[in-house]
Amino acid sequence: MNPAMHLSSNGAYGADCIAPGRLDITRSATLRPMSELLNKHIVLGLSGGIACYKAAELCRALVKQGATVQVVMTEAAAQFITPVTMQALSNRPVFVSQWDAREPNNMAHINLSREADAILVAPASADFMAKLLHGRADDLLSLMCLARPLDRVPLLLAPAMNREMWSHPATQRNMAQLRADGAHVLGVGQGEQACGETGDGRMLEPNELLHEVIKVFAPKPLLGKQVLVSAGPTYEALDPVRGITNLSSGKMGFALAQAAALAGAHVTLVAGPVALATPFGVKRVDVRSALDMHAAVMAQLPQADVFIATAAVADWRPAQAASQKIKKDGSGQMPVIGWVENPDILAEAAATERALKGDVFCVGFAAESHDVLAHAQAKLARKKVPLIIGNIGSDTFGADDNALLLVDAQGAAEWPRAPKTELATRLVAEIAKRIQRS
Ligand code: C5P
Repeated sequence: MNPAMHLSSNGAYGADCIAPGRLDITRSATLRPMSELLNKHIVLGLSGGIACYKAAELCRALVKQGATVQVVMTEAAAQFITPVTMQALSNRPVFVSQWDAREPNNMAHINLSREADAILVAPASADFMAKLLHGRADDLLSLMCLARPLDRVPLLLAPAMNREMWSHPATQRNMAQLRADGAHVLGVGQGEQACGETGDGRMLEPNELLHEVIKVFAPKPLLGKQVLVSAGPTYEALDPVRGITNLSSGKMGFALAQAAALAGAHVTLVAGPVALATPFGVKRVDVRSALDMHAAVMAQLPQADVFIATAAVADWRPAQAASQKIKKDGSGQMPVIGWVENPDILAEAAATERALKGDVFCVGFAAESHDVLAHAQAKLARKKVPLIIGNIGSDTFGADDNALLLVDAQGAAEWPRAPKTELATRLVAEIAKRIQRS
């Protein structure tokens, strides 16, 4: 093994980890893809409802993540989507009846629930939840839910129904009791419904449900912690139609926000102008300029246990943005623009009383074109933070993968090129380890 790539087994980074001058974080090997759902066996239950059509997409998404999926449908669900479709997508015959003779012992409800790592019922109709609540078991899906080992197989319910049915006291009462009985009753979406009405009660989207399942299996090293992440570029207006920005895509910061949320943290993401979807379970605050980002971060900082500054903040802003579009005057001369330095958000956060006491762990990023180690070490000292993550700007901006160099007071360690989502999960686990130690 290349000693420059070695991360000591106790998780500490020794100064000897990197041989200066041999650093090449652009040509490292790719890490093996990781997934919380790899080799997990998910029983996907469908009860009757128009949202059954979304279960097809969900099934595909689970399989793509490396899970095996066993579909169990009620008779009512089979009115909305055929078992043929679900069999083709899950690559397994679907179970509909408790009298299915394919099981040698004729106990499908026992076999299916014992094999499962989790059961997800999506859609869970109002009637199906009412039935579960009473422990009724007159079809295979409800029978299997009742027979599941309570201590070992989590049950997730994704409600889907008309808004009046959703807000009915009976449904709300049933859901409260199901939660008390140990089920994870998920939320619902809001919007236009198949019946033509608008309101609460739509089933969550397949991607949201996928994250709910991942969350069940994800380790929770940041459980209950407050994590603040800044991400993306800033935009400094020159006039109403032009401005100064940079090529930061925000992908690393968004991946970190997602990983921290899956690790059990309450996450606030302060995002510069990017067109990325809000990570699942994350509170997002959109900002435009460095001053906006500064204000948003400082407002959230008093609650934060961790601040991860991934944003590529503009160093300078025009002293005065013109109120009207700046026009050419024919002189061939570019108008003179005065510049003012922006506040260094990370350095200011690291200098707060809470950070100095060790109550907020600040992490910075250094996007460089060369000499990553030296520049990251200089930033570590200048910003007085315990950890700086170095990377090559041109390799990371807009890309879905990256290679990182972790630099702290003890030394540095190289993390080879891998998907940003994977690096984010690893970095969140690393930060969790460091805050536990401090
Ligand atoms: O100072 P420089 O931009 O090189 O440092 C990069 C790190 O500092 C990143 O973590 C970035 O989010 C943060 N930063 C900041 N406020 C600035 C400039 C950079 O928080 N004005």
